[in-house]
Amino acid sequence: MTSTDLHHSPELLRTRVAELLADARLRSTRLTELDDAELVAQHSPLMSPLVWDLAHIGSQEELWLVRDVGGREPLRPEIDGLYDAFQHSRASRVELPLLTPAEARAYVAEVREKALDVLDGHALSGRRLVEHAFAFGMIVQHEQQHDETMLATHQLRAGAPVLDAPAPPPGRALPRSPGDGRPDGGGPGWVSEVLVPGGPFTMGTSTEPWALDNERPAHVVDVPAFVIDTHPVTNGQYAEFIAAGGYDDPRWWSAAGWRHRVEEGLVAPRFWQQDGSGSWFRRRFGRVEPVPADEPVVHVNCHEADAYAAWAGRRLPTEAEWEKAARHDPESGRSRRFPWGDADPTPAHANLGQRHLQPAPVGAYPAGASPLGVHQLVGDVWEWCASGWHPYPGFEAFPYREYSEVFFGGDYRVLRGGSFATDASVGRATFRNWDHPIRRQIFSGFRTARDARPSDLRG
Ligand code: AVJ
Ligand code: FE
Repeated sequence: MTSTDLHHSPELLRTRVAELLADARLRSTRLTELDDAELVAQHSPLMSPLVWDLAHIGSQEELWLVRDVGGREPLRPEIDGLYDAFQHSRASRVELPLLTPAEARAYVAEVREKALDVLDGHALSGRRLVEHAFAFGMIVQHEQQHDETMLATHQLRAGAPVLDAPAPPPGRALPRSPGDGRPDGGGPGWVSEVLVPGGPFTMGTSTEPWALDNERPAHVVDVPAFVIDTHPVTNGQYAEFIAAGGYDDPRWWSAAGWRHRVEEGLVAPRFWQQDGSGSWFRRRFGRVEPVPADEPVVHVNCHEADAYAAWAGRRLPTEAEWEKAARHDPESGRSRRFPWGDADPTPAHANLGQRHLQPAPVGAYPAGASPLGVHQLVGDVWEWCASGWHPYPGFEAFPYREYSEVFFGGDYRVLRGGSFATDASVGRATFRNWDHPIRRQIFSGFRTARDARPSDLRG
């Protein structure tokens, strides 16, 4: 059953919403099972203290589900301002008179009890905010997005490891592209790639019940033929770029990218270090380990992605190209919910949901490939795109401008596809993420693309 079918029965829908809220809370709880000192500490100026994320999750749930949908009185109106992301920068939140960890836990539990009561007693119709339980779906996704942010905070924290998870499934060799003139598969940035034929496709959605405002409405985009990597760029490929002097050659970098690279002294992805013999190691959730060559590279910023692509004689895909590769079914001409079809993700389709605390090696999810053979579009790593953060034609802010609209046109680049840290409730192929091009504490990687050449279109 797809989640779209679910929305035809209010009772099934209520049960499913309660399960999804519980799943999110289980994850938030695991991510905040730390000593109080660790919960209130600022692990990085880029991140909030974990205890802020926790109470902010409760605050948003109270605002939308308890007060707005439920029409109930505020629980603790005096704390609203503390947890308004627009009033205090991430770096300054540590200075605020925040709820203590015990108070924050009690607050989110009380809000949840009331939200479930609202879910039980409220008709899921009559108002756009509650149709298909949208407000509940939005709050599930909000909590899960903060759970990804909290996982990024864990990655930044120093000290002994506190998180553990099984290794992802093994990779498999992907078929390499024929006729590229380099049948040995050698050469800088050489990748397996597929042609996506030119023509119109439907981007975005008007029917996915829990799609957020920026994914709407569905609209037709004519995308010229292009070629895209069958898998995200791997650590091994990225290490070739480093070894070829990629970080020392301004030819590959944009002006802003080069300036940032020099100012920050970037020489490799974040969390990488090289030993005396030149082998790469990385720190991952408190453990130091060799960098696995066949995993998608993660913790690179958009400038690094652009530079790698330029060195490889390629470029990042536009957002429309990325979504066409992920959703277009060349046989029917329609756009799917996911690369593999319309069914919700299972563990066989994609590395989502913090089941594994790292990207999976390329080829690990053959069941999740698109009809054209593009792998791992969903899960593993967020993929930087060439496009900035803009509204689709016909965009309407809903239910609040501060989710998407206030960021349009700013210094942001789009990321698509979700990472190993992204929950399935967020990881649909229409979901749009954005961040500053210099950010790399997020679980960001990329794949490359290029315009189609006449020789690609023959045969
Ligand atoms: C969509 C990931 C950019 O974390 O800033 C969380 C999600 N919005 N609370 C963010 C979000 C409000 C947002 N991103
Ligand atoms: Fe938030």
